[in-house]
Amino acid sequence: MAFARGKIILLGEHSVVYGHPAIASAIDRGVEASARVAERDRLVIEPWGQTVELPESDELDETASPIARAFAVALANRPANRPRIQVDCRVDLPSGAGLGCSASLGVAVIDAIDALLESTRTREALADAAFAWEQVFHGNPSGVDNTVAALGGIVCFRRGQPLETVRPKRPLPMVVAFSGESSSTKETVASVARQRDRRPAEVDALFEAIASLANNGRLAIEAGDLVGLGKLFDANHMLLSSLMLSTESLERLCGAARDAGALGAKLTGGGGGGSMIALVEDREASLPVLESLRREGVEPFFVEAGT
Ligand code: PMV
Repeated sequence: MAFARGKIILLGEHSVVYGHPAIASAIDRGVEASARVAERDRLVIEPWGQTVELPESDELDETASPIARAFAVALANRPANRPRIQVDCRVDLPSGAGLGCSASLGVAVIDAIDALLESTRTREALADAAFAWEQVFHGNPSGVDNTVAALGGIVCFRRGQPLETVRPKRPLPMVVAFSGESSSTKETVASVARQRDRRPAEVDALFEAIASLANNGRLAIEAGDLVGLGKLFDANHMLLSSLMLSTESLERLCGAARDAGALGAKLTGGGGGGSMIALVEDREASLPVLESLRREGVEPFFVEAGT
């Protein structure tokens, strides 16, 4: 059984687009996949009840769905005499929630096919292979989701530079909740770009501020300073809100988490919907936060980042 993780951005979304650092972490929820020989190339995704079958000819026309095209990418460059393959997946992440669902699916599917065909590659090479899968869905992804899905852990990401591993002194206990509003990262990135066109000095100063939060966040994670990190989450959220990236429901969820004792809370990923994260002291402290978010009508879950 192959397994790949989802991801959250801890600090630095959006400013990362302009060359500043972002800190991202794998979460211990993701996608399981297994592959077996079948009469057709087929991808079955549960619990979505989705089945994708590729044509016998291996030729996809332009009406093919993104998931069919991505599956074809996962099967490309395999031995010519390979059998037809069915991959069964179980997705344990909300999709369209900014939690790296598509990258996690890609890594798990490619890894499961590799296992069946007994082809070995490093986790780094697996991350690279899943980048092509991600491109089908996201056009020009930053590469963070597929890397974190394949390698796990916490990373510091800076555009055009090699990923740096961040070594947490202790795992980061966190509550994650999808607001229920799907968001388009493409649109929020474009909205930030328009704001920057109108008031470049102001927006660049905001990015500088976010960059220093990300740099200090890395130090806090390495020192195991959860209280400090929580304050950085709150400050990062405020700066993202000032770029109009928060929504009423993200504000409500972050507020509810803080009121229930979270050390800090913020939107994670593109914003304009999507998900929020709240840092807590430990699993016990997550209980009132989980309860309070449930009362807000969402389905929060506990994760330990950095394990
Ligand atoms: O939508 P997500 O969770 O993959 O996060 C997007 C992060 C941004 O910084 C907003 C965009 C990017 O490409 O880094």
